[in-house]
Amino acid sequence: MGTSNLRADPRTDTIADDFIVEQNWDAYTPEQHGTWDILYKRQLASLPGLACDEFMQGLDALDLGTGGIPDFKKINKKLKALTGWEVVAVPCLVPDDIFFEHLANRRFPAGNFIREREQLEYIQEPDVFHDVFGHVPMLTNPVFADYIEAYGKGGMRSMGYDRLKALASLYWYTVEFGLINTPKGMRIYGAGILSSRSESAYSLQARSPNRIHFDLERLMRSDYKIDDFQATYFIVSSFDELFRATVDTDFGPLYERLNATFDFTPTAVLESDKIYTRGTQEYGRNGGRKNAAKPV
Ligand code: PHE
Ligand code: CO
Repeated sequence: MGTSNLRADPRTDTIADDFIVEQNWDAYTPEQHGTWDILYKRQLASLPGLACDEFMQGLDALDLGTGGIPDFKKINKKLKALTGWEVVAVPCLVPDDIFFEHLANRRFPAGNFIREREQLEYIQEPDVFHDVFGHVPMLTNPVFADYIEAYGKGGMRSMGYDRLKALASLYWYTVEFGLINTPKGMRIYGAGILSSRSESAYSLQARSPNRIHFDLERLMRSDYKIDDFQATYFIVSSFDELFRATVDTDFGPLYERLNATFDFTPTAVLESDKIYTRGTQEYGRNGGRKNAAKPV
């Protein structure tokens, strides 16, 4: 396991063993701040009624819409006081062990770059808008904050097994693309959806994807799409359900019995699934993102 907390590494000047860099807030151009403002405004216009209350409350608490790309130092003052989490800037996707170690220590690694104007709708790499707008508000929720820390610790432990893909699937279908069933209706808590205008509507309203109740092992056996809307969304009834199901399960025996590759395709529906909506999968059948005239 890597060493922890080596902030300033004289050998590399900027990239330390934990990959943390300066956010370099002063270096953002007016155009880049403007990109944040456009994306923020768009999402704020579409998310009420779609995003879960916990996310909206987090957005409010952190003041992320006061103009331009937020300064991590300012976010951290508020976030630390709320749940003890902080955001740290990283230049790119970090290696798995580093990523897990940050989360286990309540540090959320966020890309410090922002997408170009030509890529407002979609970018595959996590930029500062995805990471900060999508993820950070949920870290103000105590249960969710604990879940991510536990995930990081679980990840560090998983390095001894050969099942990283299954653990990645858990992250993907919850932290990135999770839905929650609330008394007010189904809502989004996954950051990958919350930072995307088109997928926010698609995830809840389109007839194409499956919506299936969260089942830990089922989900860890399922493959997912990294470059297009999900074919299946998994739904929890509460963040407590998610927390308990994952924290109370000893993943050791689970890793032992998992197969080396995924058992289920992204579109699979099983006999044992508790189904909310069975998708038509027409979006994928019609070519997905490449052919998408209008999500269905
Ligand atoms: N319970 C898991 C383990 O035994 C760790 C974990 C907790 C993973 C929460 C994900 C989320 O390894
Ligand atoms: Co993300």
